[in-house]
Amino acid sequence: MKRIGEKEQAYILEVLKGQFSSANTYQMVTRLEKAFAEKFQVKHAVAMVNGTATLHMALETAGVSPGDEVICPPLTMSSTSIAVLHTNAIPVFADVDKDSFLITAENIEKVITPKSKAIITVSLYGLAPQMDEIMRLAEKHGLYVIEDNAECYGAYQNQKLVGTFGHMASYSFQSSKHLTAGEGGIVVTNRDDLAEKLRKYSGLGYAGIDEKKGRITKDDIQSPDYERHVVLGWNYRMADLCAAVALGQVERMDELIEVRRKSAAYYHEQIGDCKWLVPQLVKERNVHSYWTYVLRLDTEKVGWHEFRNKFVELGGDGIYAAWKLSYQEPMFRNKVFLNREKLGFYDSYDYKDVYCVNAEFLQPRLLQFKTNYYKQEEAKRQAEILGKTIEFFNRKRGME
Ligand SMILES: Cc1ncc(COP(=O)(O)O)c(C=O)c1O
Repeated sequence: MKRIGEKEQAYILEVLKGQFSSANTYQMVTRLEKAFAEKFQVKHAVAMVNGTATLHMALETAGVSPGDEVICPPLTMSSTSIAVLHTNAIPVFADVDKDSFLITAENIEKVITPKSKAIITVSLYGLAPQMDEIMRLAEKHGLYVIEDNAECYGAYQNQKLVGTFGHMASYSFQSSKHLTAGEGGIVVTNRDDLAEKLRKYSGLGYAGIDEKKGRITKDDIQSPDYERHVVLGWNYRMADLCAAVALGQVERMDELIEVRRKSAAYYHEQIGDCKWLVPQLVKERNVHSYWTYVLRLDTEKVGWHEFRNKFVELGGDGIYAAWKLSYQEPMFRNKVFLNREKLGFYDSYDYKDVYCVNAEFLQPRLLQFKTNYYKQEEAKRQAEILGKTIEFFNRKRGME
């Protein structure tokens, strides 16, 4: 099986054959949005340039304003909190759970203040946090919930598709994701008012845009009196070429997700009763989509690099490390916010003082294994190498 197949190529050709004429422009994006909304059982899907822009637009749509607080986890790719800064709001970090590695309602509650406006949950590595609990808490405090599902396609919780819990959910088509178009992103929502804002704000605030119509038409602009911009907007709309690939991927979504689940299952078999490598905890009534397969290194007897180097020496592809916690990044620590730090909103926030105990414990201990093997034999081979690496240290350090 190939990651990019004939469908994607055919759709790309279709776009090119359309000569980017005004009649054809945006057709492929519209088809992608329709297919995505159907697949994800939601009313609206709005495509954009990437999964950071989608978060930014979701926050603007939620009415997040300069100086508001937005709660998010620190253990994630930093786009989650960077998008908050793009709105001139303040990222506030809530700790994750030590076993699921996910943000929890309990930790969110600890950092809610009168300035809180929204929560961004992250379905880290393909597994969603306990959304019912988070939605109950959000409702109690009148907060918007945006699901950052960049890494999570086709996961379930309580038999409900992940991405249908929050007010909006954001996805990425960046090249490492389950579905890819090289770059790209999409936001889903069931609310017409939110869909209209998502479209308007990501489409330069054009007057002719509404919840269904993503672009202005030729007729709109054939009058010198036409007033185009009714609100501040960004030019974040996805290109048709990108949508062509993403559409092919959406149509092949089930097989693309299955690839990752199978790879994860092979790794999982190799863990057996090993006590010092602990997989991400999948709570009852959750179905994981395994963007990556992650283990916590629970021993002082084997170092992270030592484990990774042995895995590679035995033929393994490599092991990714978890990102630095967002607040540990120099941009946050030193508040290099392109002069937003001078606005006064950030004066009482010192990211050098933030300490999320579980996230700090986890970050240096996580081992992320690739799951995008489109050849089953290779997936099995990589898993067997993991098994051999475990055996090696069991023998060498007497850890059985
Ligand atoms: C959790 C998470 N959020 C947001 C993003 C941002 O997506 P993009 O790279 O499409 O901007 C990514 C990945 O890149 C991610 O993993």
